[in-house]
Amino acid sequence: ICMPGAAHASPSVDNIAHRGGAAYGPENTIAACTMAWMQRADACEFDIQQTKDQQLVLIHDQTLSRTTNVEQVFPDRSPWRVADFTLAEIRRLDAGSWFSSGYRGEKVPTLGEALQAMRRYGVGLLLEIKHAPGSAGIDQRVANLLRQNRSVWSGRGLVVQAFDWNAMRSFHRMIPEVPITLLGKPDLSKLSDLGTFAKGLSLPRSSLTPELVRTVHGKGMRVYTGPTDRPGVMRRLLSYGVDAIMTNRPGELDSIKRYW
Ligand code: G3P
Ligand code: CA
Repeated sequence: ICMPGAAHASPSVDNIAHRGGAAYGPENTIAACTMAWMQRADACEFDIQQTKDQQLVLIHDQTLSRTTNVEQVFPDRSPWRVADFTLAEIRRLDAGSWFSSGYRGEKVPTLGEALQAMRRYGVGLLLEIKHAPGSAGIDQRVANLLRQNRSVWSGRGLVVQAFDWNAMRSFHRMIPEVPITLLGKPDLSKLSDLGTFAKGLSLPRSSLTPELVRTVHGKGMRVYTGPTDRPGVMRRLLSYGVDAIMTNRPGELDSIKRYW
């Protein structure tokens, strides 16, 4: 799953901005991803959730509290779950000020806006589907939107990932041309089966060894890992021969790669 359309394609590891590059801007926003791309990220990782009216938005937590001003705008709507708000309501929120005043007015993006950023910059997308309560039908909706926007991502660096492997097996049947990466740590005896629908595994960095990387490569799958922001850990992961590293600081990883 190389990132051939990425403007800053590297000969080795894909440099993936975790949550859109959460060190440079408010996580899961187009502003953060734009900054990450300027810092030579190959792709932005975003988390997808579903609103009350079944729209697809980019946000990590199941509630809006930590990364927006929802408690000020809708004080009576505790516990402020994403799945209890419509897209129109969520678009009234400020998703930038909590990070810094310079990002005031930044919106919670839609998946469509992430695809627009891909078209505009050529930045890759690693889309994580969050199977939160209230997310029934989310996989089908993501597949439908990707199908409608095939010209944006086809031949470019788009990958979909999730912790729910059964959901990803079904997602593969919905849209087999989209590469899938599985988050979590698999039973190694099941690798051949997982390889029937997944192109890669996203393995916890604490459990990675060079042998494990070789085993996964031997099954024809790529190895993703992270997130890490620590240069020493980045160097160790590079030495293992992984294919992609997620980091909140893609600029840091890029510097390390340049002198590798
Ligand atoms: O490890 C990859 C990452 O995307 C999963 O964690 O919680 O940041 O979505 P999280
Ligand atoms: Ca994620």
